[in-house]
Amino acid sequence: MEIKKWWKEAIIYQVYPRSFQDSNGDGTGDLNGITQRLDYIKDLGANAIWICPMYKSPWSDYGYDISDYYKVSEAFGTNEDLYRLIAKAKEKGIRILLDLVINHTSDEHEWFQKALANPKSKYRDYYFFKKGANGKPPNNWRSYFGGSAWEPVPNEKNMFYLHAFTTKMPDLNWENEEMKQELYKMINWWVEKGVSGFRIDAIMNIKKTMLAGDAQKDGSDGLVAIDKYIINQPGIQDLLFDLKKNTFAKHDIMTVAEAAVPDDELENFIGNDGFFNMVFDFRAADIDVPETGEWFLPTNWTVNELRDALLTAQTSVQKMGWGATYFENHDQNRSINKYFSRNKEDISEVTKKMLATILLGFRGTPVIFEGEEIGMENIELASIDEYEDVATHNQYNNGLASKLDEKTVFDLVSYRSRDNSRTPMQWDASLHAGFSTATPWLPVNPNYKVINAEAAIQNKNSIYHHYKNLLSLRNHGTFKNVLIYGKTVPKFADLDNIMAYERVLNDQKVLYFANFQNKTMEFNPSDFTGNLLSNNYDELLIQDGKFIAQPYQAIVIDRNV
Ligand code: GLC
Repeated sequence: MEIKKWWKEAIIYQVYPRSFQDSNGDGTGDLNGITQRLDYIKDLGANAIWICPMYKSPWSDYGYDISDYYKVSEAFGTNEDLYRLIAKAKEKGIRILLDLVINHTSDEHEWFQKALANPKSKYRDYYFFKKGANGKPPNNWRSYFGGSAWEPVPNEKNMFYLHAFTTKMPDLNWENEEMKQELYKMINWWVEKGVSGFRIDAIMNIKKTMLAGDAQKDGSDGLVAIDKYIINQPGIQDLLFDLKKNTFAKHDIMTVAEAAVPDDELENFIGNDGFFNMVFDFRAADIDVPETGEWFLPTNWTVNELRDALLTAQTSVQKMGWGATYFENHDQNRSINKYFSRNKEDISEVTKKMLATILLGFRGTPVIFEGEEIGMENIELASIDEYEDVATHNQYNNGLASKLDEKTVFDLVSYRSRDNSRTPMQWDASLHAGFSTATPWLPVNPNYKVINAEAAIQNKNSIYHHYKNLLSLRNHGTFKNVLIYGKTVPKFADLDNIMAYERVLNDQKVLYFANFQNKTMEFNPSDFTGNLLSNNYDELLIQDGKFIAQPYQAIVIDRNV
C-alpha cells in the first residue's frame, strides 16, 4: 500500500519570476506580481508554486548565478515581498518551493570575491582553483555552455578556476566541510522562513572526478564533454546523504531534484529513505537531443519511442518511489513545438489537449510550467541578437564553428532556445499581453491576442479548462485516490502511435488513451466501456460496432463500471 504524503498530492505550478507578472511597470516580472496572480494559480487547481531563482544575482544565467543566497534580487522585490507571498499563498492553501542552486555560485558571491582577493583565504578551497600547465588550463573539459570549463584567474599566472556552466558560475567544492555547513545553514534558514520545499538544481554535478591533464578530445575544439567526470560520480551518494541528514530530513518539506538517475540507483535517490522525495526524469524531455555529437541536430525520434520513454519512466519509478512529471520547464522549448516539430500543421487545440491528457494522468507530482495550461508556443525572433539566453548564444557560436551555414544554425538554435518558454506570460489581449505596462525584457509572443489566459478562461472549451478538468479529477472526488496512489499499467503498447495506460488501485481503474497520429484507428468498443471523464473531441464515434479513435483523440475513461 502506497504511503500517503502531502507532496504526492501536490500539483506544482512553475513560475519563471522574470516572465510571469510585472507589478511595478519596469518590464520585468516580480514577486508582488506572483502574489497578484495567486487566485489564477489556485483556480487552475495547483497547490504549490516552484519559483525559479529569485535571489540576488548578476544575471549571467538569469538567476542561476546567485551572489547572495539570503537576499531577494532587487529586480524581483524584497525579502518582505517574498515573506508576504509565502503568507498569502498559505492562506489559499498554496505552498511555496524555492530553487536551490548549490552546485555553483556567482563569481560575484562574497566567497568567490574573497577567494580572488587573497590566494591564502580559506575561501579558495570553497571552489576549484587549480594550476594550469604552462598557462594552459589544467585539463580539456568543455563547459556545458561551450568553451573551456576553466577560466584564468585575473592577475595570477597559470591559475584557473572551474565552471561547469558560464564563466560567471564557479563550481563549489563539496569536499570542503565548512562550505557545506554554510549551505546547510542557508537551507534550514529558508525553511524557517516558511518555504515548503525545494527544486534542487544541477545536484548530480556536485562530485567531481578531477582529471589531471587532457583526455581524448571529442570535438573539433580539442575539448571533451565534462559530463562523464562530474555527473553522478563515485562518492556522490555520501554527499547527498549528508546533505539530506543535515537539512531536508529535519523538516516536513518537499524535495524535487533535477537528477537523471539510472534505474538501478533509483532506490537510493527516491526510495523510502532516499535522498529526495522525487526526481525529474529526462527521458521524454530530451527525446530529440542526441546522446553524443552534435547537440543541435534533433534526433529522428518516433512516437513509439516517446511513448516507451514516458511509460518506462513511469514503471521504473513506481517500483522504487515517487517522481515529478512534466513536459515543460524554463530549460525546454514549448512541448507542442517539440513534439510536433516535424508536423507543425497538426499543432492545434486538439493536439495541445492531447499532450495535457497524456501528462496529467501519470503517476507522480505534475509540474505545469507557466503558460503551458493555455497552450503557449515557441517564439520566432528575427535574429540572434534578440535572444537573451546565454546558452542560446553559446550554442549559436558553437554551431557556426562547426561549419554549418548561418541560417541552419539560427533555425536549429532558435528552435531549441530556452527563451521559447521564457517569453512573458500571456494574460490578456491588451498591450504587452497584460504582463507589464512597459516594454518587457523579452518580447511577448505575437500570438498573444489569440492565446491568452483571459480568453482561455472565458471559453469553456479551451485548453485551460481541459487542464482544469484533468486536475480536478486528481484533486478531489471519486478518482483522487486512484489517480494519485494507483499504479500505472501500460495499455495497447504493441500498437503503433497509441499512447495509453491505466491507473489502477484496488478495484478502481481509469484509462488514459491517446491516438498520437493524424489518422483514425479502429478499436473494439468493449475496451472502452465506462464513464467518459475527458475528451478532446465533442464525442466518441462508434460506427459499425467499432470505436473509431479520431486523429490525435485523447480520452479518459472510468473503467470501473
Ligand atoms: C539547471 C537549470 C538551468 C541552469 C543550470 C545551471 O539545469 O535548470 O536553467 O542554467 O542548471 O544552474
